[in-house]
Amino acid sequence: QVSEEIKQRCEELKISDDAMVELMDLFLRELNKGLSKKDNPTADVKCFITYIKDLPNGEERGKFLALDLGGTNFRVLIVHLKGDKDFEMESKIYAVPQDLMVGGAEQLFDHIADCLANFMKDQNVYDERLSLGFTFSFPLQQLGLTKGLLVKWTKGFNVAGVTGEDVVKLLKDAIKRRGDIQIDICAILNDTTGTLMSCAWKNHNCRIGLIVGTGSNACYVEKIENIEMYEGLETNQMIINTEWGALGDNGSLEFIRTSYDRAIDEQSINRGKQIYEKMISGMYMGELVRLILLRFTKDGLLFNGMDSELLRKSQEFQTNYVSQIESDEIGNYKNCMEVIHKLGLSANFKDCANVRYICECVSTRSAHLVSAGIACLINKMNEQSVTIGVDGSVYRYHPKYHDLMVKRIRQFVRPEISFDLMLSEDGSGRGAALVAAVACREEGRIS
Ligand code: BG6
Ligand code: GLC
Repeated sequence: QVSEEIKQRCEELKISDDAMVELMDLFLRELNKGLSKKDNPTADVKCFITYIKDLPNGEERGKFLALDLGGTNFRVLIVHLKGDKDFEMESKIYAVPQDLMVGGAEQLFDHIADCLANFMKDQNVYDERLSLGFTFSFPLQQLGLTKGLLVKWTKGFNVAGVTGEDVVKLLKDAIKRRGDIQIDICAILNDTTGTLMSCAWKNHNCRIGLIVGTGSNACYVEKIENIEMYEGLETNQMIINTEWGALGDNGSLEFIRTSYDRAIDEQSINRGKQIYEKMISGMYMGELVRLILLRFTKDGLLFNGMDSELLRKSQEFQTNYVSQIESDEIGNYKNCMEVIHKLGLSANFKDCANVRYICECVSTRSAHLVSAGIACLINKMNEQSVTIGVDGSVYRYHPKYHDLMVKRIRQFVRPEISFDLMLSEDGSGRGAALVAAVACREEGRIS
């Protein structure tokens, strides 16, 4: 039912077996560059040191606050770890208005502190002195567990006065400006790390944390002797935040990029940056589909050649439409029709089949690109068996993403290694609390 011409024009979205191998080689080279002192400055994949050395054992205890900034939602949480893998958690989602995402540092951090104080009142802990773990999901050059300089904003944030600054200090200053709450910031971490910690708490085999949501990134447990960038030796392993979204920033992904990817990059606020992420993640997936639909309509291959005002408007095709369309049972185009109508287009069955096919090509490409990264990490770690903790709206809501990944990773991972993908049920908040718990214990603040 899918038209031959559309099939042919979508060929460029396929990641062939050869391209998978090439990608894995490229990613491995970039990872090793990121880990090496000499080559790190020119590496795209920076492999940031997280200062997190221990995975949780389920015995962590205490009451912690957590902040989770950088995904679809900004959350404030309170997590009560009770030991024996038991915990309670309450959370509230707060808005981060668009103008704060591209405003000034003080406004953003005052807003965060404001939400924190408001949440503490709600939870009747306003007068308590609590420890906090801060999940801050952007590239951070960490100088310690509680010190991290923002390297660059990603995912639509562009707040002035934060790049190059210590984000923990900016939050501390905002809390001080208010003067009403007492918080010990015990750790700052990435969402991949929070996800890994959260999953490792339940599953001891978990060694990789993956996000396929608004953005995409992975972290993993690396042997200390492979991390030249880290000077200390008192430990034998450390979590590395790869920041793999930046793969391709030096032009190395041109062999698989398309004109649609270039258009996405051109219209983004971080041109030339996060090239791999822009081919994968939720912030861009719907827009990629829209650009393809528009092109094909203009070329007379869809909707009788008639586009609509909404189809011409950027961001109008939401990423969750891709999941909805692909959730239709085969031969039934209920969700697909609904989306097409929402966009002010009129379609016949053939159009529906074509639209669905285009969605499949874009989401499958995304899953295959992520699979190349994960397969590379699994082979590099070379453990007998490894669990990957995963979070993010694309992985969570797309009906086939998980299966696509399992199949493609299996194809490229050494046959003797077993792996599984585990959805993080509780977000990265518990992970932030766990990191804070270990950090506070190390500092002797909590028994
Ligand atoms: C959430 C985590 O569940 O998933 C966040 O708690 C993370 O830390 C987010 O950033 C990623 O997914 P998305 O789709 O919200 O970007
Ligand atoms: C972006 C951020 C990264 C984060 C990822 C997923 O790539 O730079 O830090 O982990 O999005 O949220």
